[in-house]
Amino acid sequence: MQTITLANGIEIPVVGTGTNTYGKEGNQYNGELNGDFSALKSAIQAGYRLVDTAISYRNEAGVGKTIFESGIPREEFYITTKIPADDAYIGSKELVEQTVLNSLKNLKTDFIDLYLIHQPIEDEAKLKQTWQVLESFVDNGKIKSIGVSNFTIDMLEAVHNFARIQPVVNQIQSNPHTWNHELIDYLLKNDIVPEAWGPLSKVTQEQIDKLNKIAENYGKNWGQVLLRYQIQRGVVVIPKSHNVERQASNLELFDFELTKEDQFIIESL
Ligand SMILES: NC(=O)c1ccc[n+]([C@@H]2O[C@H](COP(=O)([O-])OP(=O)(O)OC[C@H]3O[C@@H](n4cnc5c(N)ncnc54)[C@H](OP(=O)(O)O)[C@@H]3O)[C@@H](O)[C@H]2O)c1
Repeated sequence: MQTITLANGIEIPVVGTGTNTYGKEGNQYNGELNGDFSALKSAIQAGYRLVDTAISYRNEAGVGKTIFESGIPREEFYITTKIPADDAYIGSKELVEQTVLNSLKNLKTDFIDLYLIHQPIEDEAKLKQTWQVLESFVDNGKIKSIGVSNFTIDMLEAVHNFARIQPVVNQIQSNPHTWNHELIDYLLKNDIVPEAWGPLSKVTQEQIDKLNKIAENYGKNWGQVLLRYQIQRGVVVIPKSHNVERQASNLELFDFELTKEDQFIIESL
């Protein structure tokens, strides 16, 4: 798997699997937990090693169990989870500490590769407090890297001003509906790796047709072209599928290279 070296020297795989509907009734985000992690099992079998979960997905424990039961050494995985910007988790220093300890327990691991603040924390004192606790877990080795999600440039600059350890990732929406081009340019310039959530979401039939036309030249499909566009410009992608063929297809991104012209067409979709 191709990797990108984060600002702290640690490598992150450029493709991972999302998990936000795994282990849930009807494969629905808000579905009841049903313990069915067959989609994560098949993703791991297909070769995914970066696994993106979050406390708000309610499935950290099932994700941890599935990874553990895969029998593949923990070190081969790159596990991301996220703390919600909610007082139940970030209301005090002790709550943040407890939240991280719970994630470690749920994920059945001694360390988490990447811990993100899931959404912007508007109260700057709480943002700073949360960040400082995450920094202390980097210090004691229980978290390898820390970052944010859905942060704007202004919010990133606020973190930059007080952080002892800078965020290495900003996980944001990026797809033809909401590319976030300006934010991605800023991240790339500032050595913060952009990670695209929903990379295959909100694509209209018209856009799929245009992407398929490009894809034909490479013997690929529209999803592969879209994901390739992102990784080619330095964006990590975490596509999620419940379908074994699509999981495999979303990993087959390394045997072709989009031309400048095709990149421009995709960027302008
Ligand atoms: N930080 C945040 O705020 C945030 C927000 C949203 C998501 N996320 C993370 O990002 C991950 C990915 O986002 P997502 O799950 O919303 O959506 P996504 O990866 O964009 O996938 C959207 C849908 O596309 C389908 N799909 C997958 N591969 C395909 C392909 N090759 N061709 C056609 N359709 C395909 C899947 O359905 P099938 O199952 O039928 O294949 C899936 O339901 C999440 O699972 C989660 O881990 C983070």
